[in-house]
Amino acid sequence: MASEPVCVEDFESYLEARVSDWLWSFYRSGADREQTLRDNPLAFQRYRLRPRCLRDVSQRDIGTSILGHRLSFPVGVSPTACHGFVHEDGEVATAKGVSNAGSAMILSMWSNKSLEDVAASVKPDTPLLLQLNLIRDESGRLEAVIRRAEAAGFKALVVTVDQPVTGKRIHTRRKKIDFDPTAYSFPQVLLPEEKMTAEKAGELLDGTQVLTWKDILWLKEITSLPVVLKGILTAEDAKIAVKHGAAGILVSNHGGRQLDGVPATIDVLAEIVDAVRGSNVEVYLDGGVRKGTDVLKALALGARAVFVGRPALWGLAYDAEKGVQKVLEILKDEFSRAMALCGCSSVADITSDYITTPPYGKV
Ligand SMILES: Cc1cc2nc3c(=O)[nH]c(=O)nc-3n(C[C@H](O)[C@H](O)[C@H](O)COP(=O)(O)O)c2cc1C
Repeated sequence: MASEPVCVEDFESYLEARVSDWLWSFYRSGADREQTLRDNPLAFQRYRLRPRCLRDVSQRDIGTSILGHRLSFPVGVSPTACHGFVHEDGEVATAKGVSNAGSAMILSMWSNKSLEDVAASVKPDTPLLLQLNLIRDESGRLEAVIRRAEAAGFKALVVTVDQPVTGKRIHTRRKKIDFDPTAYSFPQVLLPEEKMTAEKAGELLDGTQVLTWKDILWLKEITSLPVVLKGILTAEDAKIAVKHGAAGILVSNHGGRQLDGVPATIDVLAEIVDAVRGSNVEVYLDGGVRKGTDVLKALALGARAVFVGRPALWGLAYDAEKGVQKVLEILKDEFSRAMALCGCSSVADITSDYITTPPYGKV
């Protein structure tokens, strides 16, 4: 393996080396021909920066906030399932790394650690948000999880809206499961007497999601936590989200794992920012963020913050909580450096003046 990682992509091979063949495929894969998976990081390279020079950038304020909660820089961790398959400390290790870096974490409902254990492992000022799939809920398990999240001090619920069924991940389907999922706990999705199997996951996700806008209203009624919608990709849906009282929109294509052939998230960000203008809805982005300049580009196009999915898993594989922290600190350093090189001394300075597309005039 390479020497000490110096950029986010350097961590990826540590995950491949650490997990089984099927699991590596599970973490890496996108849906169908993986066009969107490939396009997410590539699309950032179609935008160029318009730097300003001879400004005093010796002191830079790279901090921001989401939903009123402070982040030391505008990058958080997106929800990814099953950190316990990568490291025995699972999401607790991830959360500690996030907390030490002054970042925020959206905990997947499909985590192997309980939301209470994750909450107990972070500093009090670390924003934790809980991701939910609104699965059919005769047993009341969803409402129980929401009450637990409220009691544990989670700051928001992040509802995944791009998964009415699960995307067809061909690469993973071709492989034989080579580990025992029943050996892991899923304290948010399973009742104590249930075990996780491929069939159980399918039953919970594929057959039973009956999510519509009505359910967002239901959610708003039963909780006072802010609701963020994750997976909106059009101005039309962004406007409906505003009407339904969303506090935030996470522009996401699920890291290319759901509908293949949708645009890279950075390519639809401006349309969504435009659609919610005049409301209080905050817009975030995930998908393919790997460089400090990617963060700056997303902020220039109107995102309040960005999130990373796979890179946190790579960091977890590299060195548990320290690895997650290291991935985030690298992004923090790169973002601060990119701000200086663009002539920005605070996050508020980053506007669309700093970004361009061919033929490279001002947009
Ligand atoms: C292995 C894996 C598991 C994921 N699990 C979830 C999940 O449980 N809930 C969810 O809303 N999104 C999930 N996602 C999508 C991520 O939240 C995020 O949108 C995506 O990873 C961002 O792209 P990136 O990996 O290029 O940073 C998952 C993604 C991966 C790669």
